[in-house]
Amino acid sequence: MDKRKIIIDTDTGSDDAVAIIMALREPDVEVVAFTTVSGNVELDKATVNCLQSIEYAGTYAPPVYAGCAKPLVCELETADQVHGMDGMGDCPWLRKPAMKVSPGHAVDRILEIIDEGDGDIEILAIGPLTNIASAIIQRRDIMRKVPHITVMGGAHPHSNPHTVCAEFNVMCDPEAADIVLDSGIPVTMVTLEACFGDMKFTGEELDGIKSINELGAFCVDCNRTLTDMNEKVFGRRELDLPDPAAFAAFIRPELIKTSFRAYTRVELKGKYTRGATIFFHEEPDEFDDMFRFKRHPANSTVVTAIDGKGFKDYLIELIRK
Ligand code: RIB
Ligand code: CA
Repeated sequence: MDKRKIIIDTDTGSDDAVAIIMALREPDVEVVAFTTVSGNVELDKATVNCLQSIEYAGTYAPPVYAGCAKPLVCELETADQVHGMDGMGDCPWLRKPAMKVSPGHAVDRILEIIDEGDGDIEILAIGPLTNIASAIIQRRDIMRKVPHITVMGGAHPHSNPHTVCAEFNVMCDPEAADIVLDSGIPVTMVTLEACFGDMKFTGEELDGIKSINELGAFCVDCNRTLTDMNEKVFGRRELDLPDPAAFAAFIRPELIKTSFRAYTRVELKGKYTRGATIFFHEEPDEFDDMFRFKRHPANSTVVTAIDGKGFKDYLIELIRK
């Protein structure tokens, strides 16, 4: 089988780090480039964290291009209470990266790579969609060559610590997310609820991963701010990994348990609902007469559940390799 080629766009915080490691250790994937964006942490930190994760992965080193430092319209809101001040759990024992960022702005590099490719380079977006939307704004014609974008983003009923009805990546840059959804590029959205339930690692499972090898310890340690926060909030050590879940849904679609097709857009104006993802479920044409709002063809596949055991086994397999 040919390897699937991807650009990974990341606001590297601690769960992005695990997704980066998975992607670089998955033999069926070739990461063509990483592009960084502000979100979980400021751009400079995201870029350093991305370089650090590549070095820990210990396989190959695609170029890393830094992109947008601010959302398209609103001010940046980071999530240090979830990822730590440095985005990686503030662990002084973790090795700093020797690798350097590559020259050029991420948006320019995305456009060059897609333009020079054969229409087979996909995108995995695990941060706010600022870089991808900026590329679409600049050269929609080039971005039309992207066959598919997998996004960690969106939520059905779930909230995040910043707002009651939105998932962080979409909330952080709602205008960008809406531009991507409205671009005509097919999108798969791995929602927050797909990352919960039996997708969460228990304290015991985390100890098991930590004991595998240095890489396992890195994956657990860099997520310690969230693990500690969960212990305070829920009374038990546990960890959800949204970005690794999105990577798993991308390369192992057989792990997806439930999904639906929808015309998805983002609420941009609501006082309380800004950043909420609105899903118009695809219905058979015969129901057309029933609807009193304008209906549009589906622009996305929305993933709402993933096989937790299959996901965990897959992550452990990649860490052991
Ligand atoms: O909403 C989940 C958050 O954790 C997002 O920022 C996602 O990218 C992950 O880092
Ligand atoms: Ca992320």
